[in-house]
Amino acid sequence: MKICHQASELRQLLNTYRREGKSIALVPTMGNLHRGHVRLVEKAVELADVVVSTIFVNPMQFGRHEDLDKYPRTPDADIEKLTAAGCAVLFTPSVNEMYPLGLDDHTVVSVPAISERHCGASRPGHFEGVATVVCKLFNLVQPDHAVFGLKDYQQFKVIRKMNADLCFGIQLTGVATERDENGLALSSRNGYLSAEEKHTALTIIQTLRDTAAQMQNGARDFAALEQAAKATFESRLIRPDYFSICKADTLAPASADDTDLVILAAAWVGSTRLIDNIEVNL
Ligand code: PAF
Repeated sequence: MKICHQASELRQLLNTYRREGKSIALVPTMGNLHRGHVRLVEKAVELADVVVSTIFVNPMQFGRHEDLDKYPRTPDADIEKLTAAGCAVLFTPSVNEMYPLGLDDHTVVSVPAISERHCGASRPGHFEGVATVVCKLFNLVQPDHAVFGLKDYQQFKVIRKMNADLCFGIQLTGVATERDENGLALSSRNGYLSAEEKHTALTIIQTLRDTAAQMQNGARDFAALEQAAKATFESRLIRPDYFSICKADTLAPASADDTDLVILAAAWVGSTRLIDNIEVNL
C-alpha cells in the first residue's frame, strides 16, 4: 500500500491510475479502524480497481468540548488492516495540509435541512465539518465510488445530498453496520466504555429492535413509542439525546402512513455518546 501525506503526492499518484483507465473507490475514515471499516474497504475493492482510504481526524467536525484530542489514533494497526483488506493507497494528511490557513475563515459546505435535525441539532457545526472535509476529499481523489458506513446514517444522507446538489456524480454505497457478538454497533468510541458500560449500551440496539417490532405489529403512535424508548434508556441509566422515528429519505419526522422509515438514536452511556439506528419498512 502506498502512503501519501501530501495532497500533491496523492493527485500525482491517482493521475497515473487514471491514465491507465483504472476506476477508483474512496473510503474516508478517521482511523482507529475496526471490522466495520474493514468491511467498507472490502466493499470498495469489489467496486473499483483501486481503493483509496483516508485517515484524517477532522477538527472541523468536532465541537469545542468534544473528544478531538482524546480521539483514538492507532496508525500502525490501521496500516496493517488496510493493507490486508486490499487498500492500494492511504492518504493521511496533517491538519496543516488540509487546513493550511486554519479553520476560522475556511470555506464551509453546508447541507441544509437534513443537517439540522438529530445529530445536527445536538452537535452544531458537526455536519458542516463533515460535508466540508468530504467535499475536499472528493475533489482531491475524484473517485468513481465512495463507501460509507450506515451506522452514521444521517451522515450518509447528508453526503448523498451534497453529492447530488454539487454534481459530484460519485456512486455512493452505504454498508450495513457491523456489530459485536451481542449486537453493539462497532464504533471507535466503544473504546471509551468500561465492560459494564458496554453491557449497558446494549439497551440502545435492544430498544431500537423492540420499537421496530412494535411498529411491524401495527403501532403507529410514534410520539408515544419515542417517549417509551427514552424512558427505557433512563431506567437503565442511559441519558437519551434523541430517539426519533423518521422518514428514511429526508429524516423528517415520520407520519403514520409512511412506509420507508428509520429510527435514529443517540444516547450517553457514562461520558460516551453513542449512536445507532434501524431501518423499518412497513
Ligand atoms: O465517518 C467518519 O469517520 C467521518 O465523519 C468522515 C466521513 C471520515 C469525515 O471525517
